[in-house]
Amino acid sequence: MAVEILGLAGSPRKGATEYVVEEALRAAQELPGVSTKFMTLRGKKIQPCTGCDYCKTHKTRCCIKDDMEELFEEFVKADAYLIASPVYVMAPTPHLAAFFSRLRPIHHVYPGMLRNKPGGAIAVGGTRHGGQEVTVNILINYMLTRGLIVVGGEIGGYAGGKVWSQDKKEEGAAADSIGLETVRGLARRVAEVALLLKAAQRGG
Ligand SMILES: Cc1cc2nc3c(=O)[nH]c(=O)nc-3n(C[C@H](O)[C@H](O)[C@H](O)COP(=O)(O)O)c2cc1C
Repeated sequence: MAVEILGLAGSPRKGATEYVVEEALRAAQELPGVSTKFMTLRGKKIQPCTGCDYCKTHKTRCCIKDDMEELFEEFVKADAYLIASPVYVMAPTPHLAAFFSRLRPIHHVYPGMLRNKPGGAIAVGGTRHGGQEVTVNILINYMLTRGLIVVGGEIGGYAGGKVWSQDKKEEGAAADSIGLETVRGLARRVAEVALLLKAAQRGG
């Protein structure tokens, strides 16, 4: 039994969030049968959805030609997801918001494409209580709009992983041992649910 977990870092720079996603994927790999893929929005050109309804009316992919075409292909191949964002003004980054808006064809063209795939949410803030909780909740809503099964971090992690970077990129995130435990616990739980769902699908 094998599953691939994709970790998506929604920061426009190499910093705390990419580090946290790598840590999460390392934890997920502790479960036998789990392989991982890292995806970052850093350096990617992704326009937000303009609401032109092209995908809805033509029943096809988005008409905007940018890096989202390739990212879409890669994203939908995975069996499970860890979605991470820096906290920007107490919310996910606009880059990640644009990414999820551009997954609209999943709703109008390929309904069910992500059905029975689990996902977990991770937020990385520069302030200890700078909006990680609300950011995780928004990421959960993003996943729900695309049909994913939302997985939480159980006791201690609850809604998802929450890290305090002290605005010090990787170094700050690495110092938050409590926050990183919420991330690792979430990642193992997403991996476990992905394996269970894959086994159930194989068993018919
Ligand atoms: C535009 C902007 C808005 C931010 N807003 C918040 C905020 O509301 N709360 C918070 O805790 N940190 C905030 N931060 C700090 C980042 O969340 C923090 O530095 C985070 O670690 C960045 O992740 P990265 O290093 O992966 O880019 C903000 C940073 C930027 C650039």
